[in-house]
Amino acid sequence: MENRQINFFKSKDFNTVLKPFKKGTVVKIDSFDIRESQKELKIGLYGWYAICPTEELKKNKIHYFSLYDTPLLLYRDEDEKVRCIKNICPHRGASFYGGNVLNGVITCPYHGAKFSSLGSCQNLDRITCSHIVDTNYDNYAKKIHLAQYKVKENDDYIFVYFTKNSETDLNDINEDSPFSNYELINNGFNPKDYVSEEVLVDFKCDWSRIIENHLDILHIFWVHGDTIPDKDVNKNVLVSFNQKININPKYIESIYYYKNDPTKEFIRIKYIPPGRILIYKEDPSSSRYLQVLDHIPLGDNRARVIVRHYRKFLKNKLINNLLLFKETQKKIFYKIFDEDYMILKTQTYNHKLGLIQKDEIKLLGEDKIINYFWKWYKKSEDKDYPWKNIKNSNLNIYDDLILKHPPEIKKLEVINNINIIRKTFIRFAAPLLLLMLII
Ligand code: FES
Ligand SMILES: [Fe+2]
Repeated sequence: MENRQINFFKSKDFNTVLKPFKKGTVVKIDSFDIRESQKELKIGLYGWYAICPTEELKKNKIHYFSLYDTPLLLYRDEDEKVRCIKNICPHRGASFYGGNVLNGVITCPYHGAKFSSLGSCQNLDRITCSHIVDTNYDNYAKKIHLAQYKVKENDDYIFVYFTKNSETDLNDINEDSPFSNYELINNGFNPKDYVSEEVLVDFKCDWSRIIENHLDILHIFWVHGDTIPDKDVNKNVLVSFNQKININPKYIESIYYYKNDPTKEFIRIKYIPPGRILIYKEDPSSSRYLQVLDHIPLGDNRARVIVRHYRKFLKNKLINNLLLFKETQKKIFYKIFDEDYMILKTQTYNHKLGLIQKDEIKLLGEDKIINYFWKWYKKSEDKDYPWKNIKNSNLNIYDDLILKHPPEIKKLEVINNINIIRKTFIRFAAPLLLLMLII
């Protein structure tokens, strides 16, 4: 195990950190402690992705999405188990959009092929002449089979194991990263002790840029300082931290301790590749507030983020409802995403066009976790390169189908605001009016 202490004040880079900010408006990282139990992360870009909250997928409904521009869909089979298949009919390649799923049987809208939950076609005679089926049935049956991916439901999320090749038989898929890495109970907290709310947002920008943003503590004070209701997260207050980074094969983690109370954690950011980030306010064992962020690489320049906020306070449903806490919370989420969005879009543009040259990136001391992330990303992309099958992702045919949480975040905000006004009226103004009428 390597254990290094660097005094950041002595570092030459420190003055450069101060430069872009006015005096008294900077977050300082005063010292590092980097622990590497083993040299690097072992998980790559193929692995378990949380795709949607469990309650999003109702029986007999289809959830369309994509991973690295591969069109996919989820549905529940006859036992309510979730299935993930390629949204490509194995007969002649139509999408299942416009077809349906009924009691676990999915029907293609083009020639009516019906597939059992195990993936085999149940009405081959419908899509070919019966004399061919009679003589060559086994061959046909093997060919006309759904391409599947592994699925798990856990902590009220639906996870999909995205790998290089889908399989007709799920037993043929080997998992490189154990699912237990993602279970919240194995990450220091039991979700049953908390209540939660969440939002889903689709960004038209690069997936890895969003992860970088969520690993970046510096911008939180500067960009979100007026939005986050925490007195320590403030643009105009000087807060000083010590940072400890843990690196091991399953995750990378950055812990920020208060400088004036070195045992007290301010925030802990844990990245579990490929797509999950956990943010703990204070130590996980005592944390009253945790955030789970899942990043879904829908495709080139398209990514979905699911942010779920777990909290131990205000657990009473009635009070919660009266205060419209969920809605107010969502309002904050949307505002935070909105604050980041333009930055992420311009960064994506600069990056995609090759305008960000190596010497224009000044990763400083406190960006160390970001540095690790980019090294991992580059290596994983070179190794896995999940984009390689995508020849022309500019067609964007699936956008209308897949981008359900519009990137124009203002729209989501407006819908949420209307919801707040509507509920406030129903809860307070309407009963008052009624009472006045009676009197
Ligand atoms: S393409 Fe699906 S049944 Fe023909
Ligand atoms: Fe942000």
